[in-house]
Amino acid sequence: KAAEKEGFEHFMLKEIYEQPKAVADTISPRIKNGKIVIDELEMTDEDIKNVSRIQMVACGSAYHVCVCAKYVLEELAQIPVDVDLASEFRYRNPLLTENTLVIVVSQSGETADSLAALRESKKKGYKVLGIVNVVGSSIAREADSVFYTWAGPEISVATTKAYSTQLAAVYLIGLLFGKVRGTIKDKEYKEYIQELGKLPEKIQRILDEKERIQWLANKYSHARDVFFIGRGLDYAISLEGSLKLKEISYIHSEAYAAGELKHGTISLIEEGVLVIGAATQPALFEKEISNLVEVRSRGASVLGLTSYGNYTMEDIADFTVYVPKTKDTFTTSLAVIPLQLLAYYISVAKGLDVDKPRNLAKSVTVE
Ligand code: G6P
Repeated sequence: KAAEKEGFEHFMLKEIYEQPKAVADTISPRIKNGKIVIDELEMTDEDIKNVSRIQMVACGSAYHVCVCAKYVLEELAQIPVDVDLASEFRYRNPLLTENTLVIVVSQSGETADSLAALRESKKKGYKVLGIVNVVGSSIAREADSVFYTWAGPEISVATTKAYSTQLAAVYLIGLLFGKVRGTIKDKEYKEYIQELGKLPEKIQRILDEKERIQWLANKYSHARDVFFIGRGLDYAISLEGSLKLKEISYIHSEAYAAGELKHGTISLIEEGVLVIGAATQPALFEKEISNLVEVRSRGASVLGLTSYGNYTMEDIADFTVYVPKTKDTFTTSLAVIPLQLLAYYISVAKGLDVDKPRNLAKSVTVE
């Protein structure tokens, strides 16, 4: 086991560090001569043009990738996207319209609810695309086409590198669909592809600055309640940050769309509560800041998460964590890294079993 960890204390940390390579391995085989080519996608350009809706289905962190995909695919390919938890979808008699493409996202390819959702969709005659990490798994075998994420084996129960490669898969599919459907201009398409290529080194840069997160983790390891808030893609990232934290640190945490705070959750904000405010989207930055002002005035400690350059965050936040700038659409890939590290180091600080948290399984193959 120690040898398998290659010098890292836990599989989770090893896998966090494998992300630049995993993301590069997922992206680079799909870029040929400056174009996105997804050979395994068994769809002609005509098929792609005809897609009228996308239904995304998954569980856990893969579901959070779907929440992110709604923003990304609607932006890049201008296709309406619905997102469902597999356990809800399978029992809901979903009313899918003609030409709906169902996308099932799963690291293991064996999650019982996700597999059932796939079978239900196929039975109703819809085409299913699987975004899967484990080659030859049930979802990979039964889907009409499979996009493999090349994350390699993931041992830690809390997913990190599989999540990151699933996001990369979503970007590639969004850019391909957008190009074919004419919703992305040639200039933008080139810029997006260039930026995709830079994501691995930007992730590496965040990992190189891990000491600061380690310090923050020690500071907040005794937190009792943590709220993650964000808008748009920052809401999607909040969901994943919150799940990571609760999975391995056993701290009560919740994620909220920042605009929803005033509809209930703000009543829980008081002295001693930690609020992690993600604000990487320029168009929503000011709105998020005003939410952070509200929680601060009620006594919360605020940890801001934003991109370099947005220094006004420091006027409000007790501490601010910066990630490199990238295309707004891709920020989730960078913002998730400090949140993974924070959850990891808090779990370590509390002396918990990071790789095997209580009551959780890596792959949930029974209902
Ligand atoms: C379990 C794991 C999660 C994972 C979820 C879905 O709950 O602990 O990390 O996100 O299952 O798994 P899948 O293999 O379908 O991605």
